[in-house]
Amino acid sequence: MGNPAPGSNKYAMFLLHVYSFFNKYLGLQNVYFFAQTVFQSMKHTTTCCLLILALIVCRQTIAQHTFTIQVNKPVATIQPTMWGIFFEDINLGADGGIYAEMVKNRSFEFNKPLMGWTILGKPATEGDFTIINRGNDHAANPRFLRVALHNNAKGSIGINNEGFRGMGIKNGIRYDFSVMYRTAAANITLHIELLDEKNTVVGNGTLKTGFTGNEWKKQAVSFTAAATVLKGKMNIWFEGDGTIDLDMVSLFPEDTWKKRPGGMRADMIQLLADMKPGFIRFPGGCIVEGFDLNQRYQWKKTIGPIEDRQLIINRWNFEFAHRPAPDYFQTFGLGFFEYFQLAEDIGAAPLPILNCGMACQFNSAELVPLSELDPYVQDALDLIEFANGDATTKWGKVRAGMGHPASFNLTLLGIGNENWGPQYIERLKVFTKAIKEKYPNIKLVNSSGTDPNSDRFNYLNTELRAMNADIIDEHYYRKPEWFFSNAKRYDNYPRSGSKIFGGEYASHADKTTGDNKNCWLAALSEAAFMTGLERNAAVVNMASYAPLFAHVDGWQWTPDLIWVNNLQSYGTPDYYVQKLYALNKGTHVVPITLNKEVVAGQDSLYAAACIDSATGELIVKLVNASNKEQINVLSLEGVKKLAPQGKLTVMQSDNLYSVNSFAAPQNIAPKESALAVKGKQIKLTATPYSFNVLRVKVR
Ligand code: AHR
Repeated sequence: MGNPAPGSNKYAMFLLHVYSFFNKYLGLQNVYFFAQTVFQSMKHTTTCCLLILALIVCRQTIAQHTFTIQVNKPVATIQPTMWGIFFEDINLGADGGIYAEMVKNRSFEFNKPLMGWTILGKPATEGDFTIINRGNDHAANPRFLRVALHNNAKGSIGINNEGFRGMGIKNGIRYDFSVMYRTAAANITLHIELLDEKNTVVGNGTLKTGFTGNEWKKQAVSFTAAATVLKGKMNIWFEGDGTIDLDMVSLFPEDTWKKRPGGMRADMIQLLADMKPGFIRFPGGCIVEGFDLNQRYQWKKTIGPIEDRQLIINRWNFEFAHRPAPDYFQTFGLGFFEYFQLAEDIGAAPLPILNCGMACQFNSAELVPLSELDPYVQDALDLIEFANGDATTKWGKVRAGMGHPASFNLTLLGIGNENWGPQYIERLKVFTKAIKEKYPNIKLVNSSGTDPNSDRFNYLNTELRAMNADIIDEHYYRKPEWFFSNAKRYDNYPRSGSKIFGGEYASHADKTTGDNKNCWLAALSEAAFMTGLERNAAVVNMASYAPLFAHVDGWQWTPDLIWVNNLQSYGTPDYYVQKLYALNKGTHVVPITLNKEVVAGQDSLYAAACIDSATGELIVKLVNASNKEQINVLSLEGVKKLAPQGKLTVMQSDNLYSVNSFAAPQNIAPKESALAVKGKQIKLTATPYSFNVLRVKVR
């Protein structure tokens, strides 16, 4: 090896400049060709080696590909339902979550009737606070609290409610307290106080009972909070003499979604509305099935006056020994009417899932005998009438009576959640026959079990296709590697026959710290996988991440799309990936290829393209899952002209394990910029570990 030639740095610099020139304007092949020529003309080996090394280093930071997009060759229609949301009451998703009720165990129906409540002061006699069970007289809500007063002064005796992991209280917001009571005493006063973590009163109201007699009456009082508190609580002090019976003790903030009294938490629903989801699946998930059939979700018990909605235990209460939630119940203050209304509010097609006569097969696996399946099937038929029937029908009248005379336009219905085996197929056949006979236009969503590749899956997939099932629901909770390597999963699925619903999926990354497993690696792998869903929109008609919400102090399952505490909520990187897909859905898939092949992992690149016929735009989604910057030239065929500028939205982080948090909710979030366009080629430089969405007007 000789000494470095004098002036070799100059050669290197020169070569690098030339390299970047070629790289920028002509492509890498030309750089190599040029470098070869220079090397051949050089005599000094060391210099040569250094230059080669420099090129290798540069090659690792910059690569270039040319993609062909056939803009005028749409290959599939993208269904309006394509990107949706999956809602389940898990992780305090409903009670303690989107349902804005702040009082836990408001009707004393939890297994332990005073769970969440503490008695304040010293009762004068044993039995001054008693739980009475009305039994069959009031089967849906049998218990109430009886309080005996003995000329009590304010502050001597009362009850405290701890809320769902505390109560989130906001300064300046009005709080609406209400209670159902009956009393023979003429003048009992309830003093309601909201307290902060140090027991300072931050809001209070007074309710003087206005009715006496044997009838239950509801009375309310409102007051405004003077401080913001993350984990507050509520006291009710009793003043007066005599006995008072209490039930449905309730506290709601005024600032619910659409300001509906007794409504939903606005910040959480806003995050859903912002996604403009194509559908919303509810109410699950495993809670549809229940631990046993007694604990299954029964939609008819979730509508009508809330005091008549029969509470049941939530199966996530005890499902995971390492995440017990003994206070997790379903009050159904949020029931099927509210779910339909939510779907309508956020412009999503409603997709209710019903129990198919089988309890959760991970739990009791109870079956309803086929001979006794009729009531279950009738529930399905009645639900369709409840959603769509006019006010002359039995169930349409119930809906109209609840304040919604117009139809909810139900077109999709799920039969069974994660059910499997011949027992599922034989029950499904009974449902399908009855529903299709009466409502041939309703599309049925059927279960393919719990995982995307197993004997269980293969059996169901074969059976369902033989039945010509409308939509097959596939679930995949897998590692990021699975998502990257399955970007082509649907490329060879049959184009005719059953359609696919990617009904529950999430990438589970191992190497994360703390509770929040929603790291960038997981979201990036989902973005890559979703290019394959979009490319195969001819087959995949719907997809949704799961689960949706998690409360930081009350979760059972992680990762989840959106994290909340009592006051705040934030979207994870996965949320922003879902949102970008939903907001950039397009109407028709167009081919995007690299060397005539779909883009699904070459050099760690993943891509899909579609057009939006409503706006006349081309939309390209591109994932660069490598650690190097990659220059991508998009060469457009079948267009006359492009707008001089497109919009590029990018999510990126060099740290694959970084997450969003309450302190940094936008740590990994989309950033928009303008992208100049020249001629019919677009240069999209994808930074390492990035998800890029480009929109450009085409003619
Ligand atoms: O999303 C959490 C759970 O995962 C769902 O309840 C169930 O369907 C699946 O097993």
